[in-house]
Amino acid sequence: MTNEELEALVSTNDAWIRARTGIEKRRIANEQESTATLGLKAAQNALNVANIVPRQLDLIICCTSTAENVFPASASLIQGWLGATAAGAFDLSAACSGFVYGVQMGAQAIAAGDADHVLVIGSETMSRVLDWQDRGTCILFGDGAGAIVLRASEQRGGVLSGVLRSDGTGGDMLGIPNIASIGVSNPAILTQEHKLYKMHMKGSEVFKFATRVIGECIQESLAKASVSLQDVSMIIPHQANLRIIKAAARSLRVDENRFMCNLTEYGNTSAASIPLALCDAVEQGRIHSGDHVVLVGFGGGLSWGAVTLKWGSHTERAPIRLTKQRRELSYLMVRWRMRSRKLMSRLRSLVQRSRPHRGRVDRLRRRMDPYQDGDDPPFA
Ligand code: UT7
Repeated sequence: MTNEELEALVSTNDAWIRARTGIEKRRIANEQESTATLGLKAAQNALNVANIVPRQLDLIICCTSTAENVFPASASLIQGWLGATAAGAFDLSAACSGFVYGVQMGAQAIAAGDADHVLVIGSETMSRVLDWQDRGTCILFGDGAGAIVLRASEQRGGVLSGVLRSDGTGGDMLGIPNIASIGVSNPAILTQEHKLYKMHMKGSEVFKFATRVIGECIQESLAKASVSLQDVSMIIPHQANLRIIKAAARSLRVDENRFMCNLTEYGNTSAASIPLALCDAVEQGRIHSGDHVVLVGFGGGLSWGAVTLKWGSHTERAPIRLTKQRRELSYLMVRWRMRSRKLMSRLRSLVQRSRPHRGRVDRLRRRMDPYQDGDDPPFA
């Protein structure tokens, strides 16, 4: 969706959006897509790059504020569709800081010896929670997903340090009220007449908060990792606003080119923005083995955080070499295994119920059509 297309929805214009945010367009999920389906595609790509099969995964973390359900978690849906049968899965809710939190949690699971491979996904369908009449928010956000695989290694490197912070006293600056907001637990939400399930934001206050914390927590994370700012090849900030990124570069006295920026294309995709920017940076050849990289996020909660990484080589310890066709075949087999399992359980319960009445067997046959399930994974 381009800025021009937004002009038809709210009182705004391309020049204002470009000048105040740097955004030119954003992607909007179609009706068949959801946070989990976008996350699935990103996860499959990440597994291809890491050259591992789904059953090698020990943990799947889906960082999101737009999960399709309270439960089951989007991470669990993705786990089932991948056939990652040895993995635990959960959603992580820390708004736009979610991916930084997810990477830190995944790295800690590996450091503790609980996991060898952790899939960290950032996936969002922000278009579903935007108030398309509010020009203060709807012009900023977009949909998307990105994913990485963290792998245990004997070599020093990977996630060197993490700094996670929160200030709940600023919780009213941006949020998405859900059904639990109604009631005495949060009367402020009601008096401010925020719309249920729709995002609200005090833009300029969040702007000030972001420009204050971004530099501070980069410095803190670097100090913890004993890495100097000069030795950092690339900083991947949450893609909220070009002016925030420029202000951070100025305050740290770092060349803007060392900040990855792709919000022009995607807008602000909340927890998906850092993995999208990271993957774009890798694909553009801007990150190499041995480079120091800082990921920094900030947003609702309030929450913010940074992790310092030493980029490894993804070919290290990767004996499995699957062709694209074999991978697709394995996903297809998972899909059919899921379908046949569902079919069998449905069949069993229907046969049990229909035993005394033969007429029910015909109805049972009609209901056996697997395409009526409606919850098949939308494999690419
Ligand atoms: O991802 C989570 C973290 N989120 C962020 O980091 C977002 C941080 N905030 C921002 O990026 C910026 O505050 C916005 C892009 C949301 C707004 O930019 P701003 O420079 O802070 O604008 P403003 O809210 O101070 O508004 C300036 C003017 C106002 O008009 P007046 O009162 O000066 O006449 C607004 O009514 O711009 C007007 N305005 C708009 N005009 C055209 C606000 N939104 C729009 C719009 N199109 N979409």
